[in-house]
Amino acid sequence: MNVVTINELGNFDGQDVQLRGWVYNTRSIGKIWFLIFRDGTGLLQCVVAKDEATDKSFAMEQNLNQEDSIIITGTVRKEPRSIGGYELGIKEITIIHQVSEDYPISLKEHGADFLMSNRHLWLRSKRQNAIMRIRHQVVKAIRDFFDNNGFTLIDSPIFTGNAVEGTTTLFEVDYFERSAYLTQSGQLYQEAGAMAFGKTYCFGPTFRAEKSKTRRHLTEFWMVEPEMAYIDLDENMTWAENLVGYIIKMVIKNSQNELVILERDISKLESIVPPFPRITYDEAVNLLRDLGSDFEYGSDFGAPDETLLSEQFDKPIMIHRWPEAIKAFYMKRDKDNEELALGVDMIAPEGYGEIIGGGQREDDLNILVKRIRHHDLPLEPFKWYLDLRKFGSVPHSGFGLGLERTVAWICGTKHIRETIPFPRTMTRLEP
Ligand code: 4AD
Ligand code: MG
Repeated sequence: MNVVTINELGNFDGQDVQLRGWVYNTRSIGKIWFLIFRDGTGLLQCVVAKDEATDKSFAMEQNLNQEDSIIITGTVRKEPRSIGGYELGIKEITIIHQVSEDYPISLKEHGADFLMSNRHLWLRSKRQNAIMRIRHQVVKAIRDFFDNNGFTLIDSPIFTGNAVEGTTTLFEVDYFERSAYLTQSGQLYQEAGAMAFGKTYCFGPTFRAEKSKTRRHLTEFWMVEPEMAYIDLDENMTWAENLVGYIIKMVIKNSQNELVILERDISKLESIVPPFPRITYDEAVNLLRDLGSDFEYGSDFGAPDETLLSEQFDKPIMIHRWPEAIKAFYMKRDKDNEELALGVDMIAPEGYGEIIGGGQREDDLNILVKRIRHHDLPLEPFKWYLDLRKFGSVPHSGFGLGLERTVAWICGTKHIRETIPFPRTMTRLEP
């Protein structure tokens, strides 16, 4: 007999199969009872009838509890009214492990904090399953995009000797006789990579000691960071919009069921086709003021500003050319206005905020040294980085896309903590 999973049942219509999984729920209607079964790939309605099931299996109804592990055999039947379009006529149920206390996450509503404390179990629920499957598809789309476009994967290290994105969010760790930091961004190493391979990317966890408890911040989050030699800010923005367009296209194609489970308005995603609007920081400030905001020129956009801006467009927007004072030391200045840094942020629609930060990098040795000093950063840990401007320096650009914020937007889930298997925040280290 074939051992199959729920998502494959369409290939086994009319056949007898075996499935391995867990009890989700049971309910009785007169002479027959239903077992709702899950195996990680979906939910399946199973019909347990006296004339089809073994006597022992038919009698199990009262004994089964949510999350008992069971192996079932039965006949696959088309059933349009059933989730997934198929049901199983049960022949036999074998219990592998019985739950002896009440499962903490019942099918009723629970508070967010309780669910987070039970994250190791909450992952089994339908909604969380759908979000993690979409995360998986987003990761796959990202890798495919870069792999198919001539990029080489160059992993950046996690332990670093220097800050990238400012010193206020550094996690310091003991590193033998000295201290090291958990990386805030793999960018600087990608710059070395781009000079060695032309186009590279890294994709891994990054760390920021965020003291803010917002729904957009984690202390450990995943970022994909491409870096490209001989690419300027405009071309960088084209890569960024093409990446996001591709991710959305692949999720719509491969994650239909999950988007339906999450009740996501798919038409909103379908309109995410490049090109995306590009506006300067100055234009964004004017737009905010036209909309009645008293936004102060020179400051960074807060979440409400980003939301107000994004509401004016039905696609992500790319805001470029920022006041240099609020951007990182490595950004190149605009040759037409030295006060502006050639940075770009991509803001997702529907109030999901910044999903990409990037820009063109300063490629002149002397200017870069001046900037590092100006930002009060020690020169010593950047010695290797400055070498990149001594030996074959070229114009180059790149960006970082935050995985969890992107998944939150695509799934339409307000809180970023649901988009990573085991979130880390200021107040949460377990599970
Ligand atoms: O804008 P950021 O700080 O840019 C960089 O780190 C650049 N060095 C990247 C590069 O050019 N290679 O961060 C990039 C993205 C943000 O747009 C956001 O999506 C995400 O990383 N991000 C976070 N996501 C979750 N929690 C946090 N605390 C985040 N901080 C940044
Ligand atoms: Mg940023």
